[in-house]
Amino acid sequence: MKGLFRREFAYRFRGLFPFSRPGVGVGCDGSFAKLEAGLSAAAAERFTVLSADYDLSGWTRGSRLLELHESVYFLDLYDSFVRDHVRVQDAARGFCRGLDVGSKNWAYLLALVTAWPGAWTGVEIDAHRRYADFSTRAAVARARAGGFAACRYLAGSVMDLGSAGEGSAGEGRGFDVITWFLPFVCVDALRAWGLPDRFFDPAGLLSHVAGLLASDGVLWVVNQGEKERAAQRLLFAETDLCYETLGEMVSPLSPFRARRFGWLAWNDEG
Ligand SMILES: C[S@@+](CC[C@H](N)C(=O)[O-])C[C@H]1O[C@@H](n2cnc3c(N)ncnc32)[C@H](O)[C@@H]1O
Repeated sequence: MKGLFRREFAYRFRGLFPFSRPGVGVGCDGSFAKLEAGLSAAAAERFTVLSADYDLSGWTRGSRLLELHESVYFLDLYDSFVRDHVRVQDAARGFCRGLDVGSKNWAYLLALVTAWPGAWTGVEIDAHRRYADFSTRAAVARARAGGFAACRYLAGSVMDLGSAGEGSAGEGRGFDVITWFLPFVCVDALRAWGLPDRFFDPAGLLSHVAGLLASDGVLWVVNQGEKERAAQRLLFAETDLCYETLGEMVSPLSPFRARRFGWLAWNDEG
């Protein structure tokens, strides 16, 4: 309950002022030079492989260094742990209808549209949080999504997305791929993020998100730390979802210190 009223007040206050100056990217000189200059030898080697296998030519246009780093990292996770998974290949064949849950400022959008080209929807419950330059997460994310005609960023809870309503993105068909990076499966993480406790409903959220999947769709979850991995395992075990662990997702390109663990889940068609 620590700081409950402060978090509730701050969250509501942010929602009263959604207006923002436009989110602008700080360019990277049209090249990956700044990113590459800071990489370890192992990371640089991995980056060379990814650059050869994927078309990253448009990535530096208007991108910030952090955005490039996060996107290269997530593309590496996709390439190393997810890409060859049979279910994902089936789900995302052709034009992908993707949903990213809890997108924050969507720094890794480039990775998503490169891994699965198509129409991506990002949804973020705390979209009006403000940066030092007075732009909001939503403005920054929408500036990024603006580079892709079929992508959109929604300010609100994923619980408000329904199979027939706003955000269905598949004419009721559901999403082929849902990514959910660092869901709040432990209440302390949600509190540290500054959200009110009333938004802590990991089982309800997982069940709802599973219902947004297309019949052959797949959900990719990434957790941070072993405590969250254990909590995620319990959550999956309590649902009707089929799931498998991807284990620890190690990448030399990670800009983060904490260990991360991955899962794939899908609805049982039988
Ligand atoms: C730990 S952050 C991870 C952000 C981002 N996915 C990343 O990997 O950098 C979790 C995000 O989920 C958002 N979130 C929590 N509950 C949500 C909900 N019900 N609907 C949409 N977003 C939610 C939070 O506001 C937060 O931005």
